[in-house]
Amino acid sequence: RDPFNMSRCPASIDFGQYDIQTWYSAPYPQEYARLTKLFLCEFCLKYMKSASMLGRHLKKCVWRTPPGTEIYRKDGLSVFEVDGNVSKIYCQNLCLLAKLFLDHKTLYYDVEPFLFYVLTRNDEKGCHLVGYFSKEKLSALKYNVSCIMTMPQYQRQGYGRFLIDFSYLLSKREGQPGTPEKPLSDLGRVSYTAYWKSIVLEYLYHIKNKNTFSIQEVVKDKAMYPADVAYTLNILGFFKRDSNNQMVVSIDWKVVDEHYQKQLNNPRRLRLDPEALRWSPLL
Ligand code: COA
Ligand code: NA
Repeated sequence: RDPFNMSRCPASIDFGQYDIQTWYSAPYPQEYARLTKLFLCEFCLKYMKSASMLGRHLKKCVWRTPPGTEIYRKDGLSVFEVDGNVSKIYCQNLCLLAKLFLDHKTLYYDVEPFLFYVLTRNDEKGCHLVGYFSKEKLSALKYNVSCIMTMPQYQRQGYGRFLIDFSYLLSKREGQPGTPEKPLSDLGRVSYTAYWKSIVLEYLYHIKNKNTFSIQEVVKDKAMYPADVAYTLNILGFFKRDSNNQMVVSIDWKVVDEHYQKQLNNPRRLRLDPEALRWSPLL
């Protein structure tokens, strides 16, 4: 993040009730790219040059939800599945918005091959954008997330984890393990590592009394890629060399128990309820 890069365009956005400092520039069309501030409709994501234009827009804009199908609703949160081919302008605007918080290059205009899973927090005014992830409709490499973003005003409150968990729930329904597209940003890396650690530790907690463990079982149960399970076991320090100098999994059960107790009391953990998902994979 580079808050001292004063040349970033725009430097801030007006979004719903928030005035948000951006982190990076985004390639808005030229006549907008010069402005220090852009004014966005928080529902249809249209960007405008001034507060008065936004004011006029808000009087006639009828959008109160993202376009597409609501596939999850529970505890004031919804997830909408938006097709880049059907809602092209919305998805392009969403990608431009995400680019303001992403360092590396991402797609902006070529949205047709992607589905967008948009998370909202709902109140009487409408479904407010919290974050989203995009996913290729046909990923030969089985990426289950292409790009993921939580709006800054909602960060560090568990929504990123919720989105990651949701992406794995979809992979599970597809019956296929998935992994996020690389490279991950620094924040993407810490968020995924935290998620994977907790998933592997929770898995281990529940098999504590069995005396077998295999990476393949975790892959089947959690829809995680084998390489990501191995990476996580390594980060946890659960790989050891045995007397024959072979790498073996050696679990520290105290770490597993401690983690489980800690997670029970984590105030930031938002529960994803698989029963509230109304979705089946494209065949
Ligand atoms: N500093 C340290 N740890 C962080 C962190 C930060 N700024 N942000 C997230 N984490 C880690 C923590 O372990 C956190 O768990 P905890 O809060 O219980 O300790 C965990 O990640 C999950 O945090 P969460 O609140 O669920 O994530 P988030 O809603 O803040 O979203 C991103 C995470 C990555 C989506 C968000 O930072 C983002 O949109 N960044 C900009 C876009 C981006 O880089 N996307 C990834 C592209 S690969
Ligand atoms: Na505002």
